[in-house]
Amino acid sequence: MRLAITNLKGGTGKTTTAVHLAAGLGRQGRTLLIDADPQGSATEWAVLMGDECPFTCVTDAGDDLHRRLGQQTRGYDHVIIDTPPGHDAIVRSAILAATDVLVPLAPSLMDINRLRPTIELIAAVERLNAPTIRVLLTRVRSNTRKSRLARGTLAELGVPVVEAEIPLLEAYVTGFGLVPPEGHRYGAVLDELLRQAVAA
Ligand SMILES: Nc1ncnc2c1ncn2[C@@H]1O[C@H](COP(=O)(O)OP(=O)(O)OP(=O)(O)O)[C@@H](O)[C@H]1O
Ligand SMILES: [Mg+2]
Repeated sequence: MRLAITNLKGGTGKTTTAVHLAAGLGRQGRTLLIDADPQGSATEWAVLMGDECPFTCVTDAGDDLHRRLGQQTRGYDHVIIDTPPGHDAIVRSAILAATDVLVPLAPSLMDINRLRPTIELIAAVERLNAPTIRVLLTRVRSNTRKSRLARGTLAELGVPVVEAEIPLLEAYVTGFGLVPPEGHRYGAVLDELLRQAVAA
């Protein structure tokens, strides 16, 4: 699986998702995390993990990533690309390189409304590469109807949503720089993505 984590909006949980999924995949096979964000947060996280890091991390924030991918990913079973907010050209390149695109999104109407540029960017490259697209609901508050409402709106828009969702938890904030724990919510997300990749 070559999975790009994208959302042109900032602060939606892309890097948190990329690192947790790369850690999960890294326990199953050789995994490369490409940090395509010039901010370098995923790289910083990987450096803090040091020898304990379950995957290899490289920094490459080029808008021609898809052209160099074959060379870079040789020998890896899985590739995850963390992308920046706002940089259309880099995100476009990551989408061109991907077999799957995952869009982390908070279940609020404002975030759903701001999803359009990301979906349009994915649609614009469809002719060249058509990866599977799914939204992942993150920062979901427990005991609210927001996630159910968001799922309804996204279904109306025809956007597939991963069944598993990531709760709003302080542990995700304090977990920066630490090795993500095995399993739990991101484990369920990974199981779902891998199951669907095999079925496809
Ligand atoms: N499930 C969660 N619950 C609580 N806080 C979270 C959760 N996921 C991420 N965060 C926090 O939200 C902030 C933004 O997350 P993150 O850096 O992963 O987003 P991003 O989309 O990569 O941001 P950017 O667009 O700037 O790259 C971080 O402080 C992170 O620790
Ligand atoms: Mg980020």
